[in-house]
Amino acid sequence: MERGERYRNPTEVQMSQMVLPCHTNHRGELSIGQLLKWIDTTACLSAERHAGCPCVTASVDDIYFEHTIRQIQIMPPWQQQHGKNNVCVGQVVNIKAKVNRAFNSSMEVGIQVSYEDLCSGKQWNVCKAYATFVAQGKATGKMKLKPLAPQTEEEKMEHSIAAERRRMRLAHTDTLKDLLTNSTLQTERENGDCNTVVPAEKTRVESVELVLPPHANHQGNTFGGQIMAWMENVATIAASRLCHAHPTLKTIEMFHFRGPSQVGDRLLLKAIVNNAFKNSMEVGVCVEAYRQEMEVSRRHINSAFMTFVVLDQEGQPSTIPMVKPEAGDGERRYREASARKKIRLDRKYIISCEQTKVPLSVPWDQSNKVYLSYNNVSALKTLVAKTNWVLATEIDKVRMYTLEEDKYLSFRIEMSLCIDATQAFFLLSDLRQRHEWDRHYASAELVQQVDEDDMIYHVLSQTVSQENKPQDFVILASRRRPCDEGDPYVVAFRSVTLPTRPPNPEYTRGETMCSGFCIWQETAELTKVSYYNQAAPGYLAYVTTNIAGLSSDFYVTFKACERFLQKNKDEITVGLQNL
Ligand code: COA
Ligand code: ADP
Repeated sequence: MERGERYRNPTEVQMSQMVLPCHTNHRGELSIGQLLKWIDTTACLSAERHAGCPCVTASVDDIYFEHTIRQIQIMPPWQQQHGKNNVCVGQVVNIKAKVNRAFNSSMEVGIQVSYEDLCSGKQWNVCKAYATFVAQGKATGKMKLKPLAPQTEEEKMEHSIAAERRRMRLAHTDTLKDLLTNSTLQTERENGDCNTVVPAEKTRVESVELVLPPHANHQGNTFGGQIMAWMENVATIAASRLCHAHPTLKTIEMFHFRGPSQVGDRLLLKAIVNNAFKNSMEVGVCVEAYRQEMEVSRRHINSAFMTFVVLDQEGQPSTIPMVKPEAGDGERRYREASARKKIRLDRKYIISCEQTKVPLSVPWDQSNKVYLSYNNVSALKTLVAKTNWVLATEIDKVRMYTLEEDKYLSFRIEMSLCIDATQAFFLLSDLRQRHEWDRHYASAELVQQVDEDDMIYHVLSQTVSQENKPQDFVILASRRRPCDEGDPYVVAFRSVTLPTRPPNPEYTRGETMCSGFCIWQETAELTKVSYYNQAAPGYLAYVTTNIAGLSSDFYVTFKACERFLQKNKDEITVGLQNL
């Protein structure tokens, strides 16, 4: 790179499109279907730039379009008076896509969409999306993509968290199935202030599309974006049939392309309103493919769920008529839509909020376990990827670093040990043993084994609070093995609340926002262990007294940790061999 030249990710692809009348819906706004096609094309080109061969869309994660609604204030007056939330003819859509991480044959592509008003020069972000593309390079067998080397802090963070998103994505169908079976399904509408009840049947849409060459890539595979656009079209018709108004798409739940479709295929798209809530409705869409008109067997290509709202003149959501589901599948979908609404809200709240905005008191329950665990690991990975850590003090190769950000002072303590990374990982992830080396811990009880890698502990601390009582903590510990060579082992901790462990008057309930270990196998013998803590002001004294040399507590604790690991490493190896 030349001096002064801005670094640019080699996989980054940009698309800028002027919105023309042919891209808009009946209200003169950019149609979401068109936007999905542009998003898919840009992302696919980025994936192909990295893969060096044709790629197909495997899935697109949830997309939230809320920002478009909020942007109404900064739209020029001539648009506001039409009550428009979307970009209109003459404005520009800018899409940026780059590969965040390559796995084996698949890649995660991050996509950023912004709108630009050429008259005022204003730009605003509309949505962020993540899509997975699979390389189709080999005629037989799976392709192994070359790894990606992230350069900037943001790229390192996205690269690291991509592994966590992939974990969640691949478990999505099972998670949803599990949550739907375990949810207490609600059958009554929460707000009965609407007398109109529309039979769901009246919203049913069935539409067929013939896949032609312009809908497909040069190998004849239908573009994922084209299918998404067709799905959005039938979903909008179904939603309009319920509300007799023009609905606005608010969220799209994950699209998973189960199987390919080619030029010449007929795609049968079916949509119906599954349930209507006070101000929103869920429309389900199902896509099947068949080759010839007489063919009876059909391939299931995709199913998706979209949430629509109806906005009034002021941009406020209007009340939506109730739906009466059909007996059988309709009633099941009606109940499942209610459950999905809760899941969606939990997920959006826990995942899309920045870590610092999620309150510490997030209650743990079965329905948000996957998202809290994601939030736990991704918060730590975000802290690890930060580049402005400063070495604050060092004693005998045990180093303490600090990171000052806004109201947070984070610290990291690091040392290299002669131990295997896997041994350190298992020993440090079990909080029941921590009192053996950390004098702040009195004891830890395993309250719930959520799954193989997520545990909830009730920790009693030795540290006395300002109220002159010892502290206790309820901590979710999430551990992850490396997804690839070069990745660390990660053990993340965050506070949660659990009904079975309410605050106890004998203790002051303490909270940890984000802390944990990252463990790197440096050489065959040496492992680097780093402890991270994003500390609220309460920890200030601990950090500053250590930095100022008034205490060497961090060194004493880490040396005790080293002795603990050395003492127990063989025991854990035997345990691992017996697994
Ligand atoms: N989301 C993200 N990635 C997924 C996924 C999902 N829901 N399901 C599978 N994958 C990934 C796997 O993790 C794997 O990645 P890796 O090689 O990096 O480990 C890769 O896809 C292949 O998975 P595999 O299990 O070997 O194959 P599969 O039989 O599940 O096929 C597809 C996956 C995506 C290739 C297959 O479902 C397909 O061809 N779908 C249609 C794709 C298409 O044509 N899209 C355009 C519109 S039709
Ligand atoms: P599920 O029935 O579990 O929701 P499907 O993949 O069968 O999953 O369907 C996805 C969605 O597509 C359904 O929730 C429904 O909204 C819509 N759908 C499915 N079949 C039809 C149909 N025959 N007519 C109209 N809409 C349908």
